[in-house]
Amino acid sequence: MITVEQLLFSQGFGTRRECAGLVAQGHVRIDGTVVGDPGHRVRPDRLEFDVDGVTWTYRAKALVMLHKPVGYECSQKPSAWPSVMLLLPPPLRRRGLQPVGRLDQDTTGLLLLTDDGALLHRLTSPKHHVPKVYEVQTARPVEPRQMQHLLAGVVLDDDPRPVAAAGCEATGELSLRLTLVQGKYHQVKRMVAAVGNHVIGLHRSAFGALTLPPDLAPGQWRWIDDPDSITG
Ligand code: URA
Repeated sequence: MITVEQLLFSQGFGTRRECAGLVAQGHVRIDGTVVGDPGHRVRPDRLEFDVDGVTWTYRAKALVMLHKPVGYECSQKPSAWPSVMLLLPPPLRRRGLQPVGRLDQDTTGLLLLTDDGALLHRLTSPKHHVPKVYEVQTARPVEPRQMQHLLAGVVLDDDPRPVAAAGCEATGELSLRLTLVQGKYHQVKRMVAAVGNHVIGLHRSAFGALTLPPDLAPGQWRWIDDPDSITG
């Protein structure tokens, strides 16, 4: 059992003092009833609580998916563009969620964020080979030999070992679907450039077994309750 103040603090609602204030000022309800005492004890597992009319479920660790729009950076301290963190509500920002890998400013699609360090490691470590699927728009028609080259492996400028796509299929004259198990910097753009084409549009449609839900609009986010749904 933990106090309601501890509950709010653990879920990113501010400092302990701020959380105690939220409770004492009547902003918090459990089972429809205002809880005015910050020291009131609750069993947190899967507990639903309301803060200013918004319902939250207690989660020891946070894991969310975001449909990343164009024009946002994945770094915590972005330079030229706003951070993707601004697309999450303040409690999630305060919990210190981190993007699971990065998408470029001009890339759209499925981005996972979590404050679970072990999960972050599992999903980003090259050892685990989690496949990521990218929908690529190219400047020039995709030639069969370019696709063969991507599947056979290309050498990028920062590593003499070739890096190969785990999957590559044409989806149109100027588009292809590329599956990668690594997560190198600008990997899709550099691989496509290495075979003599050029990426003009990039969208991540899947991460592991998880595909971007069609009803999740750009800029929207959603909880993922089961981390195993990513690794399948
Ligand atoms: N590869 C890239 O080049 N950019 C991304 O955003 C993701 C993968």
